[in-house]
Order: sequence, then C-alpha cells, then structure tokens
Amino acid sequence: MQAAIHPHATRVKESATLAINQTVARLRDQGRKVCHLGFGESPFPVPPALEEALQAEAHRKSYLPTQGLPDLREAVAGFYRERFGYAYPASHVVVGPGSKELLFQLMFLLEGPLILPGPCWVSYEPQARLCNKPVFTLPGRFDEQFRVNIRRLAMLLESMPQGQKLMVLNSPNNPTGLSMTQEEAAELGELCRQHQVIVISDEIYALTTEPEQPLYSLAQTYPEGTIVTGGLSKAFSAGGYRLGLALLPEGMEALRRAMVSTISETFSAVTAPVQYAALSVYGDYPSVAEHVENCTHLHRLAGNWMTERFRAMGLQCHRPTGGFYLFPGFAPYREALAARGMENATQLCTRLLEEAQVAMLPGGEFMVPDDWLHARVASVDFDGSEALQAWTRGVRQPETLFPSMAAGLERMEAWLKKLA
Ligand SMILES: Cc1ncc(COP(=O)(O)O)c(C=O)c1O
Repeated sequence: MQAAIHPHATRVKESATLAINQTVARLRDQGRKVCHLGFGESPFPVPPALEEALQAEAHRKSYLPTQGLPDLREAVAGFYRERFGYAYPASHVVVGPGSKELLFQLMFLLEGPLILPGPCWVSYEPQARLCNKPVFTLPGRFDEQFRVNIRRLAMLLESMPQGQKLMVLNSPNNPTGLSMTQEEAAELGELCRQHQVIVISDEIYALTTEPEQPLYSLAQTYPEGTIVTGGLSKAFSAGGYRLGLALLPEGMEALRRAMVSTISETFSAVTAPVQYAALSVYGDYPSVAEHVENCTHLHRLAGNWMTERFRAMGLQCHRPTGGFYLFPGFAPYREALAARGMENATQLCTRLLEEAQVAMLPGGEFMVPDDWLHARVASVDFDGSEALQAWTRGVRQPETLFPSMAAGLERMEAWLKKLA
C-alpha cells in the first residue's frame, strides 16, 4: 500500500553527506582507495574520562526530567559563564538528543521567517522546510572572508514585513572553518536588536579553536535575543552519544515552557547514563582539557597544511581557525573545468571522486551558488587514535599523521595539472 506523505516532508531530500558516504562505500567495496573528505565526524576517541564516566553511570535507568538533569544544567551554565563569559541561567538550559534535534525544535516553535547567511550547514534549510518556514538566504563571498555583509543584511531586513524573524549563525563555521570576529559580533548584534531578529548561535564547534583564541558570539553582544546551541559531538568527539544543549535567554520563558512541553510529548528526555557522563565533563572540564586540546592542535595542523596545499594547487582557500572543514574555491580553473563539461561544483565533485578518488561535497549544498565552484572539505580522513599517539610522541609531519589525506591531495594535484 502506498502511504501519502505530508507535503512539507516531500520537499526534503536525503542529505548530501549521507549520499556521498554511500558512493564512497561502493567504491571502497570495489577495492578502490578513496580519500574521504566528505564526511565531518571527529576521528578521535572519546576523552577517557568521559568514556569511563559513561561506563560508571550505566546503572542509571530512570527517566530524567524533561528539560535535563538539574546538576548537568547547572554545570553547563557554569561552564559557559567561566569559559566564554555568557550569562545564561541553569533554569534556561535545555538538554536534547544532539543539537540537531534542538535546532529543529527551535525552528518548529519560533514564529517568523528564517534568514540563513551562507555558506552554512546543510540541515538548517531542510529543517525550516519541514516546519513550513520561509527561508531567505544571504550568500557570503570568498573575498569578504564569507562574513555576513551587514549592508546586504540590513537591506534584506528592511524589505521584510514587520515582526519576528529568525537567523542562524554558526561560528566556528561548517563549511568554511572560519570564526566570527569581535567587530562582526558587535555589528550584527546591534542590527538584530533593531530588527527583532532572534538569533540561534550554533556553537557546536566551540573548543575546536586554539585555546588562546577567544570565541566571539552574539551571546556576548545581544544576549537577550540569542539562543546558543552546543553539545558533546565535536570537541568531545562523541557524536554518537547524542547529547546537545540549548541555552535560552532568561526572558524567553514562554519558549522554555514550549520546549519542555514538546520534549515531553516527543523524546521525553535524553538517555540518563549519557547525561550523568556529560556532567563529569561540564562539571570538571580539566579532566578532559588536555585530550580536547591535543585533538584541537591536530585539527589545526591538518587545516593549515591543507590550506597551503590547496593554495599551491592554485585554488582559493582561507585558513580555517576552528572546526574541521575548509571551503576551497576552484574558480581559477573555471575555464579548464568548463571545457571538460564541469560547470558547477556538483559536476566537479562527481568527476573528482570518479577520476581521482577524492570525495568532497559541492558548495551548492551549503547555501552558496553551485557555480561559484566551492567544495566542502572535511579534514578528518585519518586514524584519530594513531594520530594522537604520534602527536604525543612529538610527530608533527602532516604526511606521517594524515597518510590517506596526503595521498588524496597528491592525486588531486595530478588531476588538476592535467586540466591546466
Ligand atoms: C554546524 C553543525 N551544527 C550542528 C550539528 C549537529 O550536531 P549534533 O546533533 O551532533 O549536536 C552539526 C553536525 O554535523 C554541524 O556541523
């Protein structure tokens, strides 16, 4: 029997990330060596203190409060206050099964159209479509460091009807690896305050920047209108634990109540052992700090090395400051690519995978025009345990630490040379 699907759901296709994973798996099954720069999961083991805490808490079998374990919410509020200077009370911290689900709930519950500065993560737009929310995109440009152009944003806001609007900002950013500057946080905060914009500041890649680099956010410049999301998935390498966080401003009490109701009617609460384990991390960050920082150093080393390699190949590339992504541009090869039938990033990524066995995701999936010829590179195709051990022994050569990526870059360079 055919099942009729809700019309909002039929607008959403399978995520590009999952599709490329399947192609890579097929090629690998055929015995081909593929450099997989398409999928962004931390390659490192979970910090030992977190894993041990999860084992020790396995006996926690009861449902926890819908909004999250009270001690965990206290610890999270304290962690964000000490580390980043944020003023979100524990009473307004919400725990969910990954920040992705919390982002979806926020889109579902908050009124108003969504503004998405690009390039941005692949899931925001489909989530908004599922909620039947109008989406306005604002693609940022390579020569402006992919920053939100304040003038263009102000024009867009002025052209929109009065009333509440939403905007998702993501720093450090997937796909660019770039972080918001202090000046940007100040300017954007002021503009959003003037125009009744509720900002969702997706900070899932916080703690993947070098420890001495400050994090700038609208949570500092516009705290009354900014909701922060984060969790265990990236810096703590525990995506599969599925623990995400939302920090709501104190004034958004109606939203907090609505989230609690929605959670109580959907997933009920996040797994109890995982919440207790997360408490050990947020309540005692020094127990995992060294591990997290070593992972960060390796991410930064991979990002810097790849930037240099891409630039040497003649591509446009900014040096990432956080996360584990790069967003190189192939525009300098535009004519050579077009002469071989590649006029957009989708065609380029398909051919690069087939002909050089290097998997990347086309820029068009990230809310910038596909014919700008950008591709999203996840610099995590390496064995995280081996790399960490080698790093602590003092190994610093990227080619030794990241052999699959080194081989992939060689193949890609040779492929580009043949084009020129
Ligand atoms: C920018 C961004 N935000 C949010 C998420 C969701 O993370 P999680 O649901 O694991 O917390 C991801 C995961 O890839 C991401 O890249």
